[in-house]
Amino acid sequence: MRILLHRADGDTGPWIKDFSKFMPEAEVAVWRADEKKRPCDYAVLWSPPEEMLVELGDVKAAFLTGAGVDGVLKFGDLLPRHLPIIRLDDAGMGIQMAEYVTHAVLRYFRRFDEYEAQARAGQWAPLAPHRKEDFAIGVLGMGVLGTRVLQALAPFGFPLRGWSRGEKNVAGVQCFHGAGGLDTFLRGSRVLVCMLPLTPETSNLVDRTNMSKLPAGAFLINVARGAHLAEPDLLTLIKSGHIAAATLDVLRNEPLPAQHPFWQEPRITITPHIAALTVRRESVQQICDKIRRIEAGEMVEGIVDRNRGY
Ligand code: NAP
Ligand code: GLV
Repeated sequence: MRILLHRADGDTGPWIKDFSKFMPEAEVAVWRADEKKRPCDYAVLWSPPEEMLVELGDVKAAFLTGAGVDGVLKFGDLLPRHLPIIRLDDAGMGIQMAEYVTHAVLRYFRRFDEYEAQARAGQWAPLAPHRKEDFAIGVLGMGVLGTRVLQALAPFGFPLRGWSRGEKNVAGVQCFHGAGGLDTFLRGSRVLVCMLPLTPETSNLVDRTNMSKLPAGAFLINVARGAHLAEPDLLTLIKSGHIAAATLDVLRNEPLPAQHPFWQEPRITITPHIAALTVRRESVQQICDKIRRIEAGEMVEGIVDRNRGY
């Protein structure tokens, strides 16, 4: 068994060590642009360079070390047509997303963002609490991570809403789906949490038109991809007060350029794409389990549907 590994950060040592632990029989070959590799059985990669794609022609599957698949599907027809692409299923990311989004929601609900500003100004001034019934949380995308976030929010008693492509029925969550369900979903969501995959249909979905449908004083949390959000539209709606505040973990250009106006807007909180980091050990274990199941002729979860785009 040979596994072709690519890491954009070049930090391959710990990955090789974990593969030797969970699949001692496998040989891990690190991909390098200047070195042709012997044929491999599987590839493990995240956002590969285009020159690597030719080496994927003969592998049985390519495993991504993340949940989002846009960094690979962007190559379109350059990807070998029949290559199964397999994303991570949670693998330690779900709990991190749950922590991140719960923190952001509670920060806005309990007005901690405003208390932080008051404290910096030396002000002691209790604010009127928000009411839970006015604080419905709408999660765009009810997949592996969106579902985990909804589960984490459930004990707090906020009205919960979710939007997906196909129809869903989830206890305790008001479910909406498809283009036809989007307006009603947005109109009732005081907090909009974007957890969608980036596809041609979802790109720029969080734009002025759709954000204007949220109730006045809404909050935005984007933990999906920067290209879901029309950035100038957010600034316009924040300045008008229609959007009260936003927490953005993902941006169109990462790192966010120093001159970007978001840095100067106190109602926008930026984090550097850390909402849910890949947990190496759990990821390698999951990939090794799936390789064993594929070798045994079994089905595995997380195969990307290229027509859907996720
Ligand atoms: P997933 O399991 O593929 O779920 C995607 C969800 O989006 C599904 O519920 C799907 O609906 C829905 N959806 C897709 N296209 C849609 C459309 N056109 N209209 C309505 N709903 C649509 O993805 P996931 O694992 O939850 O991850 C979501 C995203 O999080 C990833 O793609 C990635 O971009 C992002 N992410 C970010 C970080 C970070 O650190 N910030 C970390 C990990 C992942 P159906 O259920 O009907 O198919
Ligand atoms: C990170 O953004 C991921 O998609 O795993």
